[in-house]
Amino acid sequence: MTSPAGQAAQAAGPSVTGSGRQGDRGAGQSATSPPGDGDGDGAGGGLPAGTGAQVGQSAQASEERVVSPLADADDRVIEGALRPKRLAEFVGQGRVREQLSLVLEGALRRGRVPDHMLISGPPGLGKTTIAMIIAAELGKPLRITSGPAIERAGDLASVLSTLSDGEVMFIDEIHRVARPAEEMLYLAMEDFRVDVVIGKGPGATAIPLEIAPFTLVGATTRAGLLPAPLRDRFGFTAYLDFYEPAELGVIVRRSAGLLGVALRDDGADEIAGRSRGTPRIANRLLRRVRDFAEVRADGVVTRQVARAALELYEVDDNGLDRLDRAVLSALVRRFGGGPVGLSTLAVAVGEEAETVEVVAEPFLVREGLMIRTPRGRVATPAAWEYLGLAVPEPGGAGNPGAGTLFG
Ligand SMILES: Nc1ncnc2c1ncn2[C@@H]1O[C@H](COP(=O)(O)OP(=O)(O)O)[C@@H](O)[C@H]1O
Ligand SMILES: [Mg+2]
Repeated sequence: MTSPAGQAAQAAGPSVTGSGRQGDRGAGQSATSPPGDGDGDGAGGGLPAGTGAQVGQSAQASEERVVSPLADADDRVIEGALRPKRLAEFVGQGRVREQLSLVLEGALRRGRVPDHMLISGPPGLGKTTIAMIIAAELGKPLRITSGPAIERAGDLASVLSTLSDGEVMFIDEIHRVARPAEEMLYLAMEDFRVDVVIGKGPGATAIPLEIAPFTLVGATTRAGLLPAPLRDRFGFTAYLDFYEPAELGVIVRRSAGLLGVALRDDGADEIAGRSRGTPRIANRLLRRVRDFAEVRADGVVTRQVARAALELYEVDDNGLDRLDRAVLSALVRRFGGGPVGLSTLAVAVGEEAETVEVVAEPFLVREGLMIRTPRGRVATPAAWEYLGLAVPEPGGAGNPGAGTLFG
């Protein structure tokens, strides 16, 4: 009752700018977005628009991994059904949820649009879900687009000028909005106005055009890439962190209920513990384990069934996957624990630097296996232990990085 849920009218379904698709998977799939970059989950941040194909490839490679936090085609369909629709159903991220509910309730009471909101964090943690929840709680329609789809100011102007009063505009991968459109975004966010430039050269005139008050929700996996003037225009900023196993347990049980999977408590705990702190992965592992349970067992997901299935998919006890292990192994075995630069590390594992940085590193850092320093990436003693190697002596040969940090 304390959430704005009770007060909000029914939200209209989301509309997807630039494509006829419903649901968040339309983000990044507008006509103008680079090919193969449809995930909308940020593996391609920071690159010029022209490198879209390249980014798509690396995202594809990651999608083959059962614990990739990036969404594959399967996920896109299923996620629509599993996505919490209201704030009260959203599991975990307690502080963000509470702050958000205050912002939304305050705006509803005043009858004004809430501040623009920026949601950042690694892929698969609920950024798109939150954007949809914001619109639902406000009882307003949701317009979905993505940074790569906004290449020119005109792309943005055509979206902005058709917003209805109070509409929520979601820009996924907002760090990839092209420069010329960025300026327009500033003015729109601040004054609900855009300047449409007619003509070229000295004869060009700017015609101010009023737009309806709206709320911009931006999502990014790479908050650090946002220019300061853009970041400053968000009145509310939330950072999503990896989930605790207990929270993932709740999510997996909820999903099992929705999908009709017979899931025992110990099976749920097993999946939750190996989900890399990521709801998207938890939901995917649940589906893989269910397949296994139906084909190789009696359909009931117990701890034993979950363990057997996850071993088959090479997900280890900590949820680390092949890329995570490759990064750790290269860092320790090839570079003596570092420090080593991101791009060198990425080449060593045959991945885009982008993918290593956005997909693998946040979790390795969070698990205490690796740290980022100004001089490069450094393995912690826990990394050696994880790989079953003897932790080198502080300052010992071949391990200068760990030596200076831990000696
Ligand atoms: N807090 C949560 N509670 C329950 N399910 C969640 C939560 N966060 C994410 N999910 C699930 O994980 C999936 C991925 O979330 P999504 O919002 O698409 O992540 P992101 O946009 O950050 O990559 C969603 O479809 C949803 O089913
Ligand atoms: Mg998303």
